[in-house]
Amino acid sequence: MNSPALCRIILTIMNIQALKQQAGEYAAAFVQSGMIIGLGSGSTAIFATRRIAQRLRDRDLRDILAVPTSLATEAAAIELGIPLTTLADQPGIDITIDGADEVDPNFNLIKGGGGAHLREKIVAQASERLVIVVDDSKLVDQLGRTWALPVEVIPFGWQSQAAYLESLGATPVLRLQGDQPYQTDQGNIILDCDFGPIPDPAALARKIRSRAGIVEHGLFIGMAKDVVVASKSGLRHLRKP
Ligand code: 5RP
Repeated sequence: MNSPALCRIILTIMNIQALKQQAGEYAAAFVQSGMIIGLGSGSTAIFATRRIAQRLRDRDLRDILAVPTSLATEAAAIELGIPLTTLADQPGIDITIDGADEVDPNFNLIKGGGGAHLREKIVAQASERLVIVVDDSKLVDQLGRTWALPVEVIPFGWQSQAAYLESLGATPVLRLQGDQPYQTDQGNIILDCDFGPIPDPAALARKIRSRAGIVEHGLFIGMAKDVVVASKSGLRHLRKP
């Protein structure tokens, strides 16, 4: 690759990072003192987590407890000094801020690009309010347009689950880390399933879940209440009516 092309790629990555930062930091302002919060996973949610830590240090925020959605987020929160709790101690969460891989016009999502969608969904379902933070490249008119659907399966007999997903119209690919299967925080594996555009996400979600061995898929239907979108032309805070 020639150096102008490389420079353009680096600039694009830097611009997207700046948009992720704007979205994440904006949403961090929704957190109020005394709240139980869910900390999302990924390169956008981390900006919200860092901003929340900054607000704690500035004493702009007090008495919050956080439930992380992955081991990586847990490690980051510990390093940043955010007090943690668990769903065992705090089964109800006031607000969760998380990223997404795709967002459709009804605020349905594909998540799991970072492999954390199982814990993310558990935390989202326990949350009063799920705020999604994205750059505008994540907005799609139909889920499945740009992203394969991550499906977490237990390792035992996973090939049988891959065949089932294929029968539903997917092209499943085993996610790798190096030359080994990627391992989730639960010790499971992930099949990235290209379904193409998904006309009825809720129906597909039901079919996927009906199979033993499939632990969770990355379709988040009707869970997000707010989407904060950062783009070159500014920030938009979209709210579900
Ligand atoms: C991890 C996720 C992430 O929220 C999603 O992949 C978006 O990540 P990023 O903000 O890095 O683009 O679902 O499982």
